[in-house]
Amino acid sequence: MSHTHDPNDPNTAFLPEAVRRRYDLGWIIEFFKHKQVPVHRHSVWYYTGGIALFLFIVQIVTGVLLMVHYNPGQAHASVQAIMSQVDFGWLIRSTHSWAANLMVLVAFIHMFSCFFMKSYKYPREMTWITGFVLLALCMAFGFSGYLLPWDQLAFFATQIGVKSSEVMPVFGGFMADMMRGGKELGVQTIERFYALHVWVLPLMFFGVLGLHVFFIQIQGLHEPDFFEKQPPEKKRYMRFFPDFAIKDVYVWLLVMNFLGLLAVMFPWELGEEADPLAPAPADIKPEWYFLAMFQLLKLFPAEVGPITGELLGMSLFGLVGLLWALVPFIDSEHAPAWRSRGAFYFGIALLAGMIVFTIWGYYS
Ligand code: HEM
Repeated sequence: MSHTHDPNDPNTAFLPEAVRRRYDLGWIIEFFKHKQVPVHRHSVWYYTGGIALFLFIVQIVTGVLLMVHYNPGQAHASVQAIMSQVDFGWLIRSTHSWAANLMVLVAFIHMFSCFFMKSYKYPREMTWITGFVLLALCMAFGFSGYLLPWDQLAFFATQIGVKSSEVMPVFGGFMADMMRGGKELGVQTIERFYALHVWVLPLMFFGVLGLHVFFIQIQGLHEPDFFEKQPPEKKRYMRFFPDFAIKDVYVWLLVMNFLGLLAVMFPWELGEEADPLAPAPADIKPEWYFLAMFQLLKLFPAEVGPITGELLGMSLFGLVGLLWALVPFIDSEHAPAWRSRGAFYFGIALLAGMIVFTIWGYYS
């Protein structure tokens, strides 16, 4: 009978003998070891993907704990009980809400850092596309989670959000009814959003994240132009495992401390229970990551020729989103210089537009 233990495999030397005698794990360590992290003046951005990953893990852990006491049939009352009767319930809820917002923010920062380092270019098109899907899923997590406490703000902001999908021709009405489970927001909507939030989206996220990380692992990290053009003897690299992985863990600890401070110093609040018959509060606004779109939509006139301004705005967002997802194919392997430059200015305009409209939306 053959034994899997190779006493001379240096990769597994750190494992206990009892494990090494039974399992041949050398190939796994080898798989992680072959990745190297280029060391240059922008290396700090390589931490951003890992931070997003860490925040996702925080979401899973705190989310599972929240599920123990959350009850979609008595949404508001159960969140109130989590805040006031469950030991440390307020802390878990506060951490979950803060980490959700940080995760979206970090995913945006990660995306733009990959954009400006041109990591999306051949052969990493699929890493970019899977990343784009992850960001869309993050936003869907945020949208579905926001409704779950069923307070006034959540209710009216979600009502506006769902209604805006109604403007889409053919599918719009059907999609809005699907989300609401009818014509009005009610308990059936909470149940749908809850199922989406705790089962459908996590399963999708796991799958797409697995692909994203797998692509990075087999292709290695992208080297920016200025680094790649250096003579080989000048290029410096760091081993991913264990050197960079340890640094990743240090950064995660820092993020955990920052998150803990936020959650304790600024505990997440819970508003009055939603009353569908009450008039909508005057300053209803969506979560900050939808503010730019919300603000931009307000600028469109009610009618533009034969179609509504809202439909025109939503179509424009769809088009911009599609172009952004396809950036690796616009600035492709042999793209002429004008197309590369065009993609670059598109990224600058998108980033600037998002910042300006988000701030404007916040203060208006
Ligand atoms: C929450 C969502 C995300 C997670 C957890 C995640 C995770 C990661 C991790 C761990 C890495 C490797 C380390 C690094 O370069 O930072 C990475 C790389 C990368 N990510 Fe993401 N990512 C997410 C979202 C995105 C988004 C939104 C995009 C772009 C649309 C994107 C595009 C990329 C690309 C192109 C790379 C390769 C970087 C390189 O080769 O240098 N990711 N991601």
